[in-house]
Amino acid sequence: MNARPVSERVSWLGAVDWDRRLFDSLIPLPDGTSYNAYLVRGSEKVALLDSVDPSMRAVLEAQLAAVPRVDYVVSHHAEQDHSGAIPMVLERYPQAQVLATPKGRALLMEQLGLSAERIRAVQDGERLSLGDRTLEFLHTPWVHWPETMVSYLREEGTLFSCDFLGSHIAQSGLYVEDEGQVLEAAKRYYAEIMQPFRKSIAKHLVRLEGFDLRLVAPSHGPLHARPALILDAYRAWATGAPKNLAVVAYTSMHGSTRAMVERLVRSLGAKGVGVQVFDLAVTDIGKLAMALVDAATLVVGTPTVLGGPHPGAAYAALLANALRPKARWLSVIGSYGWGGKAVEQLAALVPNLEVEVLSPVLCKGPAGGAELEALDRLAGEVAARHAALAEGGAAQKL
Ligand code: FEO
Repeated sequence: MNARPVSERVSWLGAVDWDRRLFDSLIPLPDGTSYNAYLVRGSEKVALLDSVDPSMRAVLEAQLAAVPRVDYVVSHHAEQDHSGAIPMVLERYPQAQVLATPKGRALLMEQLGLSAERIRAVQDGERLSLGDRTLEFLHTPWVHWPETMVSYLREEGTLFSCDFLGSHIAQSGLYVEDEGQVLEAAKRYYAEIMQPFRKSIAKHLVRLEGFDLRLVAPSHGPLHARPALILDAYRAWATGAPKNLAVVAYTSMHGSTRAMVERLVRSLGAKGVGVQVFDLAVTDIGKLAMALVDAATLVVGTPTVLGGPHPGAAYAALLANALRPKARWLSVIGSYGWGGKAVEQLAALVPNLEVEVLSPVLCKGPAGGAELEALDRLAGEVAARHAALAEGGAAQKL
């Protein structure tokens, strides 16, 4: 794939990874992804912004064959899908200097073995003149590592945002083509990568309001010629109040827990609560993560296995704990054969969740009349709290 012009002075370089289906050996990528690097050619100096995943090093190397000079390599983020080909770039351009945040500099030295004299730390707000183009570096820690930053090309109003505002989409075109598709992919990306850092992200979004953004150029997925699309979506995801939505994530061995889930879901629906149900044995965890962006309540359904929660339910609890969603309420339901401590063990897995735990409903074997009524009461508790939230009865938390 050849370099493509973004403007007279800016080119897209990088690779489209049509086939990648898993990121970090964890995150499903239904639409592939791209690793976007950019070349900014000022009248005096040339800067390469990021590189590509090591698996695509040869693609970038072939594109650089037409680039006689690189003075700076801006590393927004030390994770290897962006930094992994920087050693090749430095070998190719012996005069080039890497620019990164102070923490980024340390990480690049540790993780890529770059030598200290090839990397200069840049300060927050520092400007780099390339002649008739100027890059301004904005430190954006925890998007999603502690060392991350973005660059603003002042003369063109372009924000090079790296992971921030990105989406895992492989496409032949450079820009957003289908806004609905991009929002879906961007939400999946936010849910899996950015959601745990929404407090930091909210601050960065406020800061960006002071910039004239005409183009957002992330390092994954298409470029946004209408930045409001992705900025408004991020504001809603990061700072909006939870919605009237309960996520019910469950696993069931012999059908008893599933029957309890079905009763709870019917009862929640009858009380006006939106529900998304995930069978953890088969679910796409990206979809579960996306639902957690909006949900006010999480209910985990689990049978008791060997005295504790089913490992599938424990996995979902660990995932929710890592994602730190803005849910306010949590409950556990499920069936057990002879006893155990499923609720206690699940509760111990979610210390990061700032939730009120609503009455668990557990029963020995299939649910009987009393347990079904308890599930209806649980649905009532959820509905009442969601109603209070909608009326502003609960202070919004970030
Ligand atoms: Fe796309 Fe955090 O790397």
